Parts: sequence; C-alpha cells; structure tokens
Amino acid sequence: MTNLIERHFPAYKGELKKLYGFKSGYLFLDLTLGDGGHTQEALEAGCRVVSFDIDEKAIQRATGYIKNFRPIIIDGQDEMAKIPQNFVWVIIKSNFTQVSEICKRFSLSGFDGIMTDLGPSQFQVLSEGRGFSFLLDEPLDMRLNQSLGVTAADLLAVLNEGELVELFSLADEPFAKPIARIIAKQRQVTPVITTKQLSDIITRIKKFRTEGRIHPATKVFMALRMAVNLERENIRLLLPQLPNLLKKNGILGVISFHSGEDKLVKDFIDDSETKGILSAINQKPIEPSIKELSISQRTRSAKLRLAKKII
Ligand SMILES: C[S@@+](CC[C@H](N)C(=O)[O-])C[C@H]1O[C@@H](n2cnc3c(N)ncnc32)[C@H](O)[C@@H]1O
Repeated sequence: MTNLIERHFPAYKGELKKLYGFKSGYLFLDLTLGDGGHTQEALEAGCRVVSFDIDEKAIQRATGYIKNFRPIIIDGQDEMAKIPQNFVWVIIKSNFTQVSEICKRFSLSGFDGIMTDLGPSQFQVLSEGRGFSFLLDEPLDMRLNQSLGVTAADLLAVLNEGELVELFSLADEPFAKPIARIIAKQRQVTPVITTKQLSDIITRIKKFRTEGRIHPATKVFMALRMAVNLERENIRLLLPQLPNLLKKNGILGVISFHSGEDKLVKDFIDDSETKGILSAINQKPIEPSIKELSISQRTRSAKLRLAKKII
C-alpha cells in the first residue's frame, strides 16, 4: 500500500512563487521537504534550494517525484561531507533543530526565503507500519525517525491519568478526561498498544457526539503524534535560529495546522518585531484559498504566517 499512497498535496501549492518572489538564483531553505512539492516549485522557478527532512523515506519519495533536478544528499551527522559552491539542490537528512549548526558547517547563509511546513505528510500518516492512522490496525508507534526512543504506546503505558488528560488537551480534545479515564482503567487489564484499540475506545466514548466530519479519534492521535515527535519543543528550538539565516529583506514562512503551534509562531514574530528583527507581512494568518480547498480538504486547518527580516 505504501507505494500507492498519492503524493502529498502541500498547503499553498502553486502560490509560493508569488508569496516569496522566487526568481532565478533565489536561495531557498525548505526545512520540511516531505514529498517535495514546495521544493519543486522553488527549483522550477530557478531557485537554488537546500531542503531538510528527518525522515529517510520522505527523501526517497521526493527525489523520485522531482526528476528534472538531481540533489546532493547529505547526512547531517556526516562531519566530512562537502557541498560544492555552485549547487542547485542539496538535501540534508537531519532534524531541523540542527539547522544553524549544519548551515554554519557548510557555510550556508544569506537565504532569501525559508519555509517550514509543519506536521506529517499524507504519506507518513497513511503508511503501513508507522502507527499514525486510526484507519489502520497496527502498533501505536508514530515516530517520524526511529532514533526517537518513545512510541505512542509507551506514552499510553507510562503517563498517569492526569498527564494523559494534559496530553490530549494539547490537541484541544474536548473528551480528554473520559478518554484518559478509560485508558487508565483498560490498561490494568490489557495494554493499549494498537491504533485500533485506541480508536475503538475513543469511538465508544464519543458514540453519540459528532464533531462535524472529522473522525472521533483525530485529536487524540494528533496529540500523541505531537508528543512522540516533540513537535512543540522542536518549533520552540527552531524559530529563534531562523532570522540569522536570512539576508536583509529575506522572508520567513511557517505553515501550522494547530492553534497552539500558530500561537508559538505568532508570539515569536511579535517578539522579533519588538526587537526590530522581523516585520510581519500579514497580521492575520493566510488561510488556504477556496480553489485549494476544493482540491484538498486536508489543508483546511492550515495557517501561514510570513515575516520579513528588516535588519
Ligand atoms: C507536511 S510535510 C511537508 C510537505 C512538503 N512541504 C511537500 O511539499 O510535500 C512535513 C515534513 O517535515 C518533516 N519533519 C517533521 N518534523 C521535522 C523535523 N523536526 N526536522 C526535519 N523534518 C521534519 C516530516 O518528516 C515531513 O516529511
């Protein structure tokens, strides 16, 4: 099934050229390569691109889709690797929280634009064996990178009831308390270790409560994914590194899919404005166009914030 999963349709697809002002020679840093839609848009507009991704499989897929450009692929841990000065496309396999140190090591600086498109790709969510989807029945893993030590099943086993409530509330789950209570009770009999077990518990609790068209387990699965992959912590570590990587008038863009993440981005931009480092290009986040929503409902909760470096 994995190879049959359609290419990820990135939010704001086809709009980056205008939003960033891509032109020949523009130096673009795509911190979340995924299936390569944004990177491809930049390459095809004549940009030179440095792309990061933590997931080896994402790198394989993106290079399979982008056939007209051959990347130099580097492991971010490889201290001996070299990047030629005239590169067109470099992919660095690394957590984006290492971006400053890695760019310094390879003398990469003065980017005209940076994009961070948070969250997992459709491929990751729907891939078999990774434990992200309530539509599959498999172990509750959810790690984007196997070097992470803690799986979603581990969290359900070790967090106490109150901590589970706190965790599920991260994704604004309104039934965080009853869900945590049932998990704490059930695991005394059988550990909750599969996507189906968890999805069934949630569906039973929410049987008669509808939340529009979203699956009842969406928010709990999202909260677990965020915790397993330290998503909030990663954003907090990443944002302060980015202004130094931009040239004057360079543009920083962050796409988030959750109000808590968008708040982190907003607060960071506000603070950088106060310090005279960045200036927000849009006061309110840009939401996907009606045209985009007609093609992909997945992007309905996307929010894009753009800011310009002013010093
Ligand atoms: C929403 S997808 C990006 C989609 C992409 N813009 C496209 O056009 O297909 C997010 C990607 O970021 C990667 N990612 C998530 N957290 C990361 C991190 N901390 N460091 C590097 N990559 C990360 C994921 O592996 C995933 O491939």
